[in-house]
Amino acid sequence: GFCSAVCVEVPSETEAVQGTHMKLLCISCMKREEVTASTVVEWFYRPEGGKDEPIYEYRKTNHEFPSRFSGRLQWNGSKDMQDVSITVLNVTLNDSGIYTCNITREFEFEIHRPLFTSSRLIHLTVVEEAGEDFTSVISEIMMYILLVFLTLWLLIEMVYCYRKVSKAEEAAQENATDYLAIPSENKENCAVPVEE
Ligand SMILES: *[C@@H]1O[C@H](CO)[C@@H](O)[C@H](O)[C@H]1NC(C)=O
Ligand SMILES: *[C@@H]1O[C@H](CO)[C@@H](O)[C@H](O)[C@H]1NC(C)=O
Ligand SMILES: *[C@@H]1O[C@H](CO)[C@@H](O)[C@H](O)[C@H]1NC(C)=O
Ligand SMILES: *[C@@H]1O[C@H](CO)[C@@H](O)[C@H](O)[C@H]1NC(C)=O
Repeated sequence: GFCSAVCVEVPSETEAVQGTHMKLLCISCMKREEVTASTVVEWFYRPEGGKDEPIYEYRKTNHEFPSRFSGRLQWNGSKDMQDVSITVLNVTLNDSGIYTCNITREFEFEIHRPLFTSSRLIHLTVVEEAGEDFTSVISEIMMYILLVFLTLWLLIEMVYCYRKVSKAEEAAQENATDYLAIPSENKENCAVPVEE
């Protein structure tokens, strides 16, 4: 059993776009390699202002309750029952609400059979279209502003530097008349022709 995958409890996405498939992620890391456990998974749906109704169950076999999700729910969990996710096919705006994933695990020790339960809530919002996240739009705009600003600053700095350097060179050339005997590396760059 030392080759088993690491189990990480990732929270589910909470936004779905209508017409797409939405995986309601429910991961519960409760593995005990050395003991067998039987797992029962119950999925509930609660509309805004309503109460929990069972929509899906795993109890040795998969069972879908008659609900308005009928035919649209698919088991999407893993064999080792660490991941007990389901997928809602063809999400509608009406599917917004609270989904609860309740897991009950019974460990089969020799003497006793302790029960462990865990529960996850997913507050799902279904939107009409995939819209860009407002904060990501803002940060994108900020990035472009910063880019333009940096480019301008770089240009200004370059022009400034160039002027400074050419002024310094002019000044150096004026002073250089005394040192003309010394060969200058910059001679070929001189703007002012040097005549003897
Ligand atoms: C589980 O969901 C993934 C996408 O999240 C999909 O590729 C995969 O086919 C699904 N598996 C089952 C058994 O539904
Ligand atoms: C999804 O549902 C809409 C109505 O809610 C239906 O018109 C459409 O055909 C469905 N698409 C699929 C792939 O089932
Ligand atoms: C959404 O739900 C309301 C009431 O629950 C129902 O009247 C309506 O027809 C539903 N709409 C769709 C598209 O399923
Ligand atoms: C799910 O489990 C939690 C904790 O065990 C419990 O409080 C809650 O009532 C359960 N939900 C449903 C709908 O049975």
